[in-house]
Amino acid sequence: MRQPLVAGNWKMNGSLKANEALLGDLRKALSGGIKAEVAVCPPFVYLPQVAGLIDGQPMALGAQDLSDQDAGAFTGEVSGTMLKDLGCEYVIVGHSERRSLYGEGDEFTARKFAAARRHGLKPILCVGELLEERESGVTEQVVARQLDAVMDLEGVSALADAVIAYEPVWAIGTGKTASPEQAQAVHAFIRARVAERDAQVAEGLRILYGGSVKADNAAELFSQPDIDGGLIGGASLKADDFMAICRAAE
Ligand code: G3H
Repeated sequence: MRQPLVAGNWKMNGSLKANEALLGDLRKALSGGIKAEVAVCPPFVYLPQVAGLIDGQPMALGAQDLSDQDAGAFTGEVSGTMLKDLGCEYVIVGHSERRSLYGEGDEFTARKFAAARRHGLKPILCVGELLEERESGVTEQVVARQLDAVMDLEGVSALADAVIAYEPVWAIGTGKTASPEQAQAVHAFIRARVAERDAQVAEGLRILYGGSVKADNAAELFSQPDIDGGLIGGASLKADDFMAICRAAE
């Protein structure tokens, strides 16, 4: 049985005041307990604040990115050791905004994944196709390439205890969600691809869906057999919406 995970990716949003209010509301909403695992991924600068605000709560801390390097002259970078030091359990790796806006490719992403593993962080590896790739029928090839880059570098065993997030790029922040059937088909493909190397790792692997998940479409998406929760952007900034999505994963 895979425990569902719902992770909120705040992206470049938040402030000291707004974070306090949001987490205060989430703490109240979670006081009765929750079956799904819940994680929040604020911007780097707010990690210490958020770590304090979720202390003792059923919420895990995640970062949105990390350096492929461990320490040294890498201005502006944040290492896995630092994230671990601040109490992070998860780190998002290869989000499509990193890939498309900052030109981060498959091999670089795989090195970041390796860095996360080296420092005992659980990577949430994002994969997903662009609209033109879906329209030209190469969704599976794209997702396989992104996934294989990590498995080739680190071996399939590196996926044990890691998380994959399938995020069709055309569904991110656009209000266009993949249909549950479309998402399920790609999730099943991902699981099968991993199973070709190790059936046990594939069976235990949590595969999240991300891309315009809202309170009103979450339950149907999460009811699909290979969808084990969600990576939530915009809706994770509103306590009521995020909680409704977390409950839909129970
Ligand atoms: O990391 C989260 C995804 O990019 C989804 O973002 O829920 O705002 O579409 P969204």
